[in-house]
Amino acid sequence: MTGKATAISCANIAFIKYWGRRDHALRLPLNSSISMNLDAATTTTTVAFDPALAADSLTILDADTTEKAARRVFEHLDRVRDLAEITTRARVVSRNSFPMGAGIASSASAFAALTAAACAAAGLSLDERALTILARLGSGSACRSIPAGFVEWHAGESSATSFAEQIAPPEHWDLRDLIAIVQTQHKEVESSKGHERADPSPFAAARVAAAERGLPVVRRAILQRDFEALGEETEQEAIRMHAVAMTSQPSVLYWSPETVRIMHAVRAWRAEGLPAYFTIDAGANVHVLCLGADTDEIAGRLRALDGVQDVLANRPGPATRLIDAHLF
Ligand code: PMV
Repeated sequence: MTGKATAISCANIAFIKYWGRRDHALRLPLNSSISMNLDAATTTTTVAFDPALAADSLTILDADTTEKAARRVFEHLDRVRDLAEITTRARVVSRNSFPMGAGIASSASAFAALTAAACAAAGLSLDERALTILARLGSGSACRSIPAGFVEWHAGESSATSFAEQIAPPEHWDLRDLIAIVQTQHKEVESSKGHERADPSPFAAARVAAAERGLPVVRRAILQRDFEALGEETEQEAIRMHAVAMTSQPSVLYWSPETVRIMHAVRAWRAEGLPAYFTIDAGANVHVLCLGADTDEIAGRLRALDGVQDVLANRPGPATRLIDAHLF
């Protein structure tokens, strides 16, 4: 069979994080998580199944393609081929709108777009829930990039019950995520490895319990557009996740001096009456949450800080979708 399709997906930022798994092979998380799609941080991916191809190939435009990344993509194509009952090899070309591997969840948008494009190219039409489950097998957080806006990934107890669904659409709340970029090279320990190291941390179980308590708080804060409640819980959860990473074996320290400088600055601005909160994924970059009206002020202040190379401003982003503009 021959089929070609292109999908575009947003990265997402988690308010309650996924950190640690109960099943590594199936990517079943220790706790449910909640995130927002980021409209300015996207991956576009074209997949073409072609009987003339002897092997799968992956090209990431404007970036180096590692053998490891390619292997992970080809394994994901195998999952799609199994479902579609085909053996045809594929060509995959992908482009990110942001630096890869710097803690902007490139694996989330990458595996969400790959899942949607590969399924469409293989002639499969899965519903949204099935797509989230399939994306999760490629990269856990990718399942949250399939639905639009504000999304919850239910931890579940099996592959079939570990899926993502929308809490509220993007237009529900004019929340912004300003990513202060302080590092664009590949981070030291990719999140995939970080999950495996989480278990030995003496704080791992305590964080999971705190994250479970935070879920209804964040869910309610989103539905009621309560910025303070969302920000307080999100900032606490980021510190909890990094406390687990730092106390893992071996220890993972993602923060750079610039990261800590921004954390202090955000708290100082808040003390002055400017509402902003931070969160940090598996990297040194800092995500600063604010309301639409404060975006320019906060982005300007972030840009003025030493070590901030760029600020990427995001609104709540749309769902993963198919587009006609193929990359080849
Ligand atoms: O899906 P992964 O393996 O890239 O893990 C994502 C981990 C964090 O971004 C740090 C947290 C999250 O929930 O997105």
